Amino acid sequence: MKRVAILISGGGSNMLALVRDMAGDHPARPVLVASNDPSAGGLAKAAALGLPTAALDHRSFPGREAFEDALAEKIDAASPDILCLAGFMRILTPGFVRRYQGRMLNIHPSLLPKYPGLHTHARALAAGDAQAGCTVHEVTADLDAGPVLGQARVPVRPNDTEDTLAARVLIREHLLYPAVLRRFATGDRRPVVLP
Ligand code: GRF
Repeated sequence: MKRVAILISGGGSNMLALVRDMAGDHPARPVLVASNDPSAGGLAKAAALGLPTAALDHRSFPGREAFEDALAEKIDAASPDILCLAGFMRILTPGFVRRYQGRMLNIHPSLLPKYPGLHTHARALAAGDAQAGCTVHEVTADLDAGPVLGQARVPVRPNDTEDTLAARVLIREHLLYPAVLRRFATGDRRPVVLP
């Protein structure tokens, strides 16, 4: 049974999708939900589900490395086999990534390699793309550029706004990430493509 730590920064809807999927017949189970923001709504949701949580305010540390050392201490205390970044909004240093590379996943709201970084939906709309979507990838030192483990597409509609497109993509994120984690937890690295 693989042990999964999930890192969040906000509402944690992807975290909830992962946790709910692991409640059934599944090769993994959640062992920690941690956040860089003590006010992250996802922490209360995780606690309500009886999950161990950890909150470290990255602003209360003297630097990025100090925060990451404290975060790694909390993570390692839970002895996870897999880390899932789920709406985690901190860029991680190569040193932190090296600790977990090969077993750290992230979900990004674009069809990578298109639109790494922020404001992905605004960029897709500005480009007049006919499709948008989300990608789960292995985390490497290069931002949003690791091996792709899964993708899901959505149509862009003529009157879409950032919010309407983000909402359509988020629904697919909640299907894609659990499907990828299920496969990844068995050691299978073949990419998942949602129909
Ligand atoms: C989602 O769009 C996800 O792709 C991005 O953060 C957003 C919010 O995620 N990484 P969540 O609701 O906190 O899981």
